[in-house]
Amino acid sequence: MTKLRLFESFSGIGAQAKALQNIGVDFESVGVSEVDGEAIKSYAAVHSDTSDVEVPSEEEMQAYMEQLNIPLDKKGNRIKLKGEQLEAVYRASVAIKNVGDISKVKEFPSMDLFTYSFPCQSISFAGYGHGLDRGSGTRSSLLWECERVIEQQKPKYLLMENVKALLSVKHKHNFDIWKEWLDDMGYTSYVMVLNAKHFGIPHNRERVFMVSVRKDVDTGFEIPIGREIDVKISDFVDYSVEARLPMDKQRDIVRRDASLQTRIKNELNGIEHEIPKHRIDGLGQVYATFRSTVVTNHESWYVQTLTTANQKVYLGGISTEKLYDDSDDLVNYFWSRELSSREYWRLMGFTDEDYDKAFKVTRVPYLYRQAGNSIVVQVLEEIFTNLLKK
Ligand SMILES: C[S@@+](CC[C@H](N)C(=O)[O-])C[C@H]1O[C@@H](n2cnc3c(N)ncnc32)[C@H](O)[C@@H]1O
Repeated sequence: MTKLRLFESFSGIGAQAKALQNIGVDFESVGVSEVDGEAIKSYAAVHSDTSDVEVPSEEEMQAYMEQLNIPLDKKGNRIKLKGEQLEAVYRASVAIKNVGDISKVKEFPSMDLFTYSFPCQSISFAGYGHGLDRGSGTRSSLLWECERVIEQQKPKYLLMENVKALLSVKHKHNFDIWKEWLDDMGYTSYVMVLNAKHFGIPHNRERVFMVSVRKDVDTGFEIPIGREIDVKISDFVDYSVEARLPMDKQRDIVRRDASLQTRIKNELNGIEHEIPKHRIDGLGQVYATFRSTVVTNHESWYVQTLTTANQKVYLGGISTEKLYDDSDDLVNYFWSRELSSREYWRLMGFTDEDYDKAFKVTRVPYLYRQAGNSIVVQVLEEIFTNLLKK
């Protein structure tokens, strides 16, 4: 059996490669396309080894960066790197066979599986909503750049991922044009909306996926159905994090929320709550909250969608042990804090080992962003299992 040749465009931290590895597919990465310098470094740290990469002169590294049109900032402008940072991004980019900005690539490598989770900012409800019309120049219109890859290499399998809003009235016409084009190119496409919380990760993350199979190899694709939620957020919490919201904020949360006060009282009196409890010694019940100010309304055993936007996600809990010495007694049994970047990676299905590797090469704000941009690995595992192993 020959190895499956994977090419990940918009590769981020490589959830696709991670999923194939986890399910034991014999594959090789023939390249990636990525423009974010920090994501390139993290991808290399998680998936590859940069120590063998020979480092040429600074001028040659600059020429390489220019040719690939990397790295780009959030607005799409090229950043000119220097010194250690130039070398780090260069090493990483070479190690992972990055072809850089997809819109500038002329020749793509041969491949069997092409993945394209193109930027969602211009589509998502949370973003600017400028759409993905061809030629519009929006981030999401990078979808059309994938045509050249498919025309050139005719991969057997394609996998698209994006936010659910791609199927909304505003954007569906473009999605339909794309799907029809794939049909003309000889692909059968299977569209599905999957939520990570049904795939073993306590994360409410609904995304649209489309698997396209070249008709000459298509034998049908079974859409994964997932299962009832069988995990809880408390299994994903990093208990070594001691940070808490400032006391005045915690006090505010408790004072404003009558139902939280009742919950704390019930907890202290040993009265069971109707929601099954996931107790952690010392921390009591642990649950995820959307905003610190509306804890109980958004209380759940899974986290809200983790994004790259500045929308912080919180954990909270009621402890039966006294935690502080506040004059407002109920406050003493309540704690809350932001999710850590490690927890973000866990809630995207990456391991602590992956996180630790990336942590060595990039900084915390980027680790949050990279996780928020990625795909929950376990969802991909089930898609790839049905596509490649059945
Ligand atoms: C939604 S994320 C995909 C994340 C990825 N699926 C993962 O596993 O982490 C989109 C990625 O596309 C990258 N990107 C944006 N413009 C690009 C371009 N012109 N060429 C290649 N990649 C680009 C972004 O830097 C970002 O990492």
